[in-house]
Amino acid sequence: MKQWRCTICGYIHTGETPPDVCPVCGADSSFFEEVTAGAEEGSASAAGLGKAERNSEAGTMRAEGVTPGVRPAGSGAGESLVKGGPKQALHKITYGLFIVSSRRGEEINAQCANTVFQITSEPATVAIGINKSNYTHDFIEASGVVGISILDRQGHNLARRFGYRSGRDGDKFAGIPYRTGMTGVPLPEGCLGFLEGKVRDKLDCGTHTLYLLDVVNGGLYSDEEPMTYGYFRASK
Ligand SMILES: Cc1cc2nc3c(=O)[nH]c(=O)nc-3n(C[C@H](O)[C@H](O)[C@H](O)COP(=O)(O)O)c2cc1C
Repeated sequence: MKQWRCTICGYIHTGETPPDVCPVCGADSSFFEEVTAGAEEGSASAAGLGKAERNSEAGTMRAEGVTPGVRPAGSGAGESLVKGGPKQALHKITYGLFIVSSRRGEEINAQCANTVFQITSEPATVAIGINKSNYTHDFIEASGVVGISILDRQGHNLARRFGYRSGRDGDKFAGIPYRTGMTGVPLPEGCLGFLEGKVRDKLDCGTHTLYLLDVVNGGLYSDEEPMTYGYFRASK
């Protein structure tokens, strides 16, 4: 049986083909590479690290491919200056880490997400990228309201609770203290701040939906340092 590694988070999948979506980080199948016997020994891969982690933790970009025909300026036959391709460049984009929540009638759910970013400050709008197969996606579709809780650097347990399993398989809020925001979304305690938004627009991005949210509420609970995706991966 073949094995496939998620190059984003290092998750290993066993099967003839890679999964459509990484159950750990939500990356789509294009981010999986086949694990080949022998090639991994002694490498960072053997320690269960994803390609993105291997590349970024050492602070070096390893060449995994060379863009043909690109030469150093002023050099006739020198080494290529361009290493890797779009995927390697994408892995260098930095993110924060958030709990994205929503509701469907009286039901509530939330997931971990790194794809949350400000679009404009006046008026305040943010965008989020949510995998269509996530339970949270169903809730956002149903209610059009979203909570974004900003994790601080002690937020590992919340990221694990909401990021590694689906609300379809059980109540992820069981035992988790939260308050209910003005839009009715659950906002877990222990975060440094929150935003609440209403869906203004959305874009079908294949596996994911990109939602544009009008921010209708928000605030800070503490002045802790925010969690970043890179810090979470390095310290999880
Ligand atoms: C660190 C981390 C970052 C993640 N970022 C995203 C993301 O930006 N978008 C997304 O759709 N899923 C993301 N996920 C995956 C979801 O959190 C995960 O699939 C979750 O189990 C979905 O839960 P649900 O089915 O209850 O909605 C991330 C997971 C982790 C651990």
